[in-house]
Amino acid sequence: MSCDFLALAQPGVQKLSPYVPGKPVDELARELDLDPANIVKLASNENPLGPSPKVLEAIRAELAELTRYPDGNGFELKTRLAARCGVSTAQVTLGNGSNDILDLVARAYLAPGLNAVFSQYAFAVYPISTQAVGAQGKVVPAKDWGHDLEAMLAAIDANTRVVFIANPNNPTGTWFGPDALARFLERVPENVLVVLDEAYIEYAEGDELPDGLQYLDAHPNLLVSRTFSKAYGLASLRVGYAISTQQVADVLNRVRQPFNVNSLALAAACAALDDSGYLAEGRRINDLGMVQLEEGFRRLGLTWIPSKGNFIAVDIGRDAAAIYQALLAEGVIVRPVGGYGMPNHLRISIGLPEENARCLEALAKVLARG
Ligand SMILES: Cc1ncc(COP(=O)(O)O)c(C=O)c1O
Repeated sequence: MSCDFLALAQPGVQKLSPYVPGKPVDELARELDLDPANIVKLASNENPLGPSPKVLEAIRAELAELTRYPDGNGFELKTRLAARCGVSTAQVTLGNGSNDILDLVARAYLAPGLNAVFSQYAFAVYPISTQAVGAQGKVVPAKDWGHDLEAMLAAIDANTRVVFIANPNNPTGTWFGPDALARFLERVPENVLVVLDEAYIEYAEGDELPDGLQYLDAHPNLLVSRTFSKAYGLASLRVGYAISTQQVADVLNRVRQPFNVNSLALAAACAALDDSGYLAEGRRINDLGMVQLEEGFRRLGLTWIPSKGNFIAVDIGRDAAAIYQALLAEGVIVRPVGGYGMPNHLRISIGLPEENARCLEALAKVLARG
């Protein structure tokens, strides 16, 4: 009889459920025999603008070097990020997406017997990375769908090494302000690494959200993680980064795969940083789309969770699984969030105006069926 390799897996891994991504357009097209060109995907908080021409040009210029390994230290990108963030290059860690950063933190700082604190409805990768290394995830009940920072402080114990907080949070879009972050950081024990996940911060800059980088000097136990996947439009290339103390960056660098960010991603990210017009247009489209969806929901008599991200969670008022399926049949892919414990909500990424309109139309149609 062959061995049970599930039973042989590390106990935390045995109990893991794999991350469920948004349904790809081609998969739905195959399943329902639809024309991919007529499918609207608003399921993975991607940038609806398509890639920046400057990014495409930078990638083309890099193609001739594909036979070579990338710069394992990401010198050029780290230099630009350090200048942009007002830190030294030694404080920058590059990741294969910011998910990689979250995983590096877990591998470096968590182990069986230790725990990470995060909120109910927090990003799905926090429990996955935590459990994968055999550590315990301490889930703190949310308050009004958002992080209850006071309760999270109270949940920290002698075995806590990491706190994951996202601002804004995915999938809820909720956020906290500078005062709440300052009060939190002042009281977190100094041996607990606070991972402030700012994957969506570019959509909220100038709003009531704090800029995590401004708290680094006063709080050596803070790590700010950011990504090129959202506002910079590079989700497929997988590039993210962390800013922390030099010491924490040095630790993460020890567990990092040698060439975790590929050369096309490095070149694209450098070009994306220079393309401020793309960022501004993305922000403009997002702000408009948010209002468009909110107005649409209002007309449909639906409520939603106010969001500062490039997505919004709408309350269908009953189990949303059937509505999700019915939307698929209409060629509209959104994200069910039952797996997050939000069975009545659908998370809808903000698209182009015509994509948002298609989504609202389809939603009206399937809701009208009762
Ligand atoms: C809150 C949050 N953090 C991190 C990520 C990871 O993104 P990436 O690995 O593409 O940088 C996401 C992606 O959806 C997210 O929503």
